[in-house]
Amino acid sequence: MTPSGSLLHAGGLYKAYGATPALDGAEFSIHPGEVVAVLGPSGSGKSTLLHCLAGIIQPDRGTVRYGDHDLTAMTDAERSALRRGDFGFVFQFGQLVPELTCLENVALPMRLAGTARKAAEAHAREWLERLEVDPVAGRRPGEVSGGQGQRVAVARALATRPRVIFADEPTGALDSLNGERVMGLLTEAARATRAAVVLVTHETRVAAYSDREVVVRDGKVREAVTTG
Ligand SMILES: Nc1ncnc2c1ncn2[C@@H]1O[C@H](COP(=O)(O)OP(=O)(O)OP(=O)(O)O)[C@@H](O)[C@H]1O
Ligand SMILES: [Mg+2]
Repeated sequence: MTPSGSLLHAGGLYKAYGATPALDGAEFSIHPGEVVAVLGPSGSGKSTLLHCLAGIIQPDRGTVRYGDHDLTAMTDAERSALRRGDFGFVFQFGQLVPELTCLENVALPMRLAGTARKAAEAHAREWLERLEVDPVAGRRPGEVSGGQGQRVAVARALATRPRVIFADEPTGALDSLNGERVMGLLTEAARATRAAVVLVTHETRVAAYSDREVVVRDGKVREAVTTG
C-alpha cells in the first residue's frame, strides 16, 4: 500500500544516464484529486521523474507504488496495461495521430480498451464539448489551431477517466490566454473526476492552478512554498 492515503508514491528514485544522475534520491507523493505542479530548471530531472512515476521508464533504484501495485516490480506488459487503464497523458505538443480526426483521436484510447466504435465516439464527443472543441470534431489535427489541438489532447487524456493524469508542459506550445484556458479546463475536469494531476511546468502562471508545488533540483524533489 501507499503511505498515508496517497494514490501514487515514489521513494528513493535514482536514475542515471551515463555517469550523471538525472534523479538522485527523489521522493514524490500525490493524493486522489490533488494537482501537484513540478517545477525546476531545465535538465533538473522533471520529465525523468514523470516518466518513472508513470512507469514509462524504469528507475535504476527506488520504488514507485500506485495503490496496491509496485510499478517497479511489474513486467513491461503489466505496466502498459496499467497505463492504458488508469493513467492519462498530455504532452507539450498534443501528440495527436495526424491521420485521424479529432473525434477519432479522443475515441482511440477507448477503442483500444475494447469499447465499441459508436459508444466510444459518442463519449468522445461529450468530452470535445466539455473542452469546447466540438466544432472541430471532424477535422484532422493539422487543420486546427494549436490551442484547439491541445484541448483535443486534454479531452483524449480525460475521456478514459484516468485516476492519474501526467502532463509535461501541457501549455508549452500555447500563448498565455490559450494556456490558461487549457489549464482551467484540465484542472476543473480532473477535480470533477477526483483524478490526481502531476503537472510539469516552467510557468508560474500555470503552476498557480495547482494545490501544491514541488521543485526538482539536481535530481532531488523539494516542497515549495505554495502561492495560493
Ligand atoms: N534519454 C536520455 N539520454 C541521456 N540523457 C538524458 C536522457 N533523458 C534525460 N537525460 C538527461 O537527464 C537530465 C534530466 O533530464 P530531464 O529531461 O528529466 O530534465 P527536465 O527537468 O525535464 O528538463 P526540461 O525542463 O528542459 O524539459 C538532463 O541532464 C538530461 O540531459
Ligand atoms: Mg522536460
